[in-house]
Amino acid sequence: MRRLLLFLLLALSICVAHSLTNPQDAAVLRSLKDQWGGTPRSWGRSDDPCAAWEGVACNNSRVTSLGLSTMGLTGTMSGDLGGLSDLISLDLSFNPGLRGSISPRLGDLQKLTILILAGCSFSNTIPSELGQLSDLTFLALNSNNLTGEIPPSLGNLSKLYWLDLAENQLRGEIPVSSAYGPGLDQLKKAKHFHFNKNQLSGEIPSQLFNSDMSLIHVLFDGNQLDGSIPSTIGLVETLEVLRLDRNFLKGSVPPNLNNLTNMIELNLAHNMLSGALPNLTGMDTLNYVDMGNNSFKKTAAPDWFSSLPSLTTLMIEYGPLEGSVPQEVFSLPQIQQVKLRNNAFGAKLDMSGNVSQQLQLIDLENNDISSVTIGSEYKSTLL
Ligand SMILES: *[C@@H]1O[C@H](CO)[C@@H](O)[C@H](O)[C@H]1NC(C)=O
Ligand SMILES: *[C@@H]1O[C@H](CO)[C@@H](O)[C@H](O)[C@H]1NC(C)=O
Ligand SMILES: *[C@@H]1O[C@H](CO)[C@@H](O)[C@H](O)[C@H]1NC(C)=O
Ligand SMILES: *[C@@H]1O[C@H](CO)[C@@H](O)[C@H](O)[C@H]1NC(C)=O
Ligand SMILES: *[C@@H]1O[C@H](CO)[C@@H](O)[C@H](O)[C@H]1NC(C)=O
Ligand SMILES: *[C@@H]1O[C@H](CO)[C@@H](O)[C@H](O)[C@H]1NC(C)=O
Ligand SMILES: *[C@@H]1O[C@H](CO)[C@@H](O)[C@H](O)[C@H]1NC(C)=O
Repeated sequence: MRRLLLFLLLALSICVAHSLTNPQDAAVLRSLKDQWGGTPRSWGRSDDPCAAWEGVACNNSRVTSLGLSTMGLTGTMSGDLGGLSDLISLDLSFNPGLRGSISPRLGDLQKLTILILAGCSFSNTIPSELGQLSDLTFLALNSNNLTGEIPPSLGNLSKLYWLDLAENQLRGEIPVSSAYGPGLDQLKKAKHFHFNKNQLSGEIPSQLFNSDMSLIHVLFDGNQLDGSIPSTIGLVETLEVLRLDRNFLKGSVPPNLNNLTNMIELNLAHNMLSGALPNLTGMDTLNYVDMGNNSFKKTAAPDWFSSLPSLTTLMIEYGPLEGSVPQEVFSLPQIQQVKLRNNAFGAKLDMSGNVSQQLQLIDLENNDISSVTIGSEYKSTLL
């Protein structure tokens, strides 16, 4: 009897604990269920989101997480979401059927640390109210149809670790702080600035970079940025990937770039850069380099062609190179691709020495090479 009573009590307490979704949170979720298509089946089976709704996580009857990535959701984002005041994580990513504006009421979610809306079809501007989410560490708005400018208020997100705005149709300049308010130069904790494939314009502000930042990825490729590359980028010693390709950058590359000795990938291709080809000596972790389609001054192959121990891909197509192709580049221990078509290399191409086992492709089309010596070691593609 006592055991039965204990069992009943236990069952009752579990039942009670689980049926207590905070009424306000429950109302918000029921309204989302009514507005959206494609919500999970489990949302129809019970009236109590915290009990059994897929993708809903709760703590003490409050909804703390909504994880609804790749559910096939359709519809628009209602301002009701702003009522989930204990929400810590919101992930609606990869639901291409979600469209319309990102609700400014997301700015009410004061406990939010993770906001992922990537891969949907959200349009219109990024609400500046997102700058009020002072605990936010992860913000991914990439691959939507967002327009307008990057709100300077995002510079307020002092805990932000990840900022991904790539693959939208954002315009205007990259905002930095001024007398009028914050800017992205204040994001000292950020490791990722992914702004690639937008329509950002103006200069890359030199104020954007500082030695107390912790950036590892700066992806600005595929925009309409002009002006020169600010030398302040050489101060961000944590940097591992720098992609500035496919913009309208001009002037010389700042010489202190080779201070960035953690760099793995450097892509400056398809700009209008001039002056000397950058000296990458000492950037021993580099494995991918592309500097093609610029306007660098004619030069013999620089020494670093033969000295970067981690290089896998060397690309300088439509480049400024003349003289002979240094044989040593083919024996770099990791080298896989050497793509140097449309330069002005002349004389003889000598590949009779050591050739790296990994080497798969050498493209020297449209140079002035008069004769070729190939040893027995190289059996992959030579164009
Ligand atoms: C649940 O919320 C309480 C405070 O209300 C907090 O102390 C606890 O860490 C939370 N639990 C989880 C698993 O987040
Ligand atoms: C910056 O954050 C503070 C506190 O989190 C907030 O009061 C203020 O409105 C925010 N400023 C902007 C421009 O978003
Ligand atoms: C949204 O963006 C996608 C991919 O960038 C594009 O194919 C589509 O046409 C855009 N839709 C609108 C309405 O702009
Ligand atoms: C290069 O890096 C060193 C520290 O590694 C730093 O002291 C120096 O100021 C940097 N030089 C330039 C030109 O940025
Ligand atoms: C390239 O940089 C290295 C190291 O800073 C230096 O020793 C070398 O002289 C430079 N090469 C040229 C051509 O300036
Ligand atoms: C690279 O530059 C060459 C010569 O200026 C041009 O013919 C070619 O179309 C360019 N390639 C791209 C992808 O812009
Ligand atoms: C080729 O590489 C091997 C092993 O790294 C080395 O022993 C040999 O001296 C090299 N030969 C030439 C011609 O550089």
